[in-house]
Amino acid sequence: MEKIAILGATGKIGSRILMELIERSYVITAISRNAFDLPGSTLIIGCEGDIMNEKVISGHVMALENEVLISAISPDPHDLESFLTATENLIKVAEKAAVKKLITVGGAGSLLLPDGKMLMEKEGFPDFVKPISDIHKRALDIYKSLEGKKFDWINVSPAETIEADEKTGKYRIGADDHLLMDEQGRSFISMEDFASAVVDLIEDDTYKNQRITVSY
Ligand SMILES: NC(=O)c1ccc[n+]([C@@H]2O[C@H](COP(=O)([O-])OP(=O)(O)OC[C@H]3O[C@@H](n4cnc5c(N)ncnc54)[C@H](OP(=O)(O)O)[C@@H]3O)[C@@H](O)[C@H]2O)c1
Repeated sequence: MEKIAILGATGKIGSRILMELIERSYVITAISRNAFDLPGSTLIIGCEGDIMNEKVISGHVMALENEVLISAISPDPHDLESFLTATENLIKVAEKAAVKKLITVGGAGSLLLPDGKMLMEKEGFPDFVKPISDIHKRALDIYKSLEGKKFDWINVSPAETIEADEKTGKYRIGADDHLLMDEQGRSFISMEDFASAVVDLIEDDTYKNQRITVSY
């Protein structure tokens, strides 16, 4: 069974990913700035760490020879630029710890609409979300510029709306940078099904070195 390291496991999306990892009996290294906030489980090794301190995180990821690194961290709303340093650090950690895959949760705002515009350029897109969408886009650009790395990266954009809801066991993946919508034009996914999709990516090698999106 593969060993998985995860950052962001105390968050809304990351905690669902953590639960999905536990359900599938992975051995997990969960890293948080507040390790006491992590749930107890015999499958979880909880570690204290801040992605801004890459050496500490690398040590934790390396210690148990984790094969996959998952990040569901959020940008700091008071210092959005630091998300780019966090992104560079995740890449350094993935390299140093020699993981085979880096799976990161991104944003939907830079997904394309049928008219070719980005979702965040759509009329009525909330102003307060735009800077967050933009920083996720710039983080994605960092991944897209990677060359010659020994690990594969996958940046997973949620649907336009992602909320806590039931797990249906169903989802679709879009791999062409377009927003994925249902027949009514809605782009929605529950955090629970999103978490399943992320965990499925651990063993599914269909998508490599690209951004994908998950929606119903
Ligand atoms: N439709 C969309 O595009 C959409 C919607 C929702 C979310 N998202 C994205 O999905 C991601 C997760 O969102 P969420 O709502 O689950 O976030 P959240 O609930 O705010 O959780 C954020 C997580 O990030 C971790 N974190 C933040 N800074 C860190 C640091 N410096 N070092 C280590 N860990 C750090 C926190 O861990 P600790 O505090 O325990 O250290 C926490 O577990 C975000 O990037 C968000 O922007 C996209």
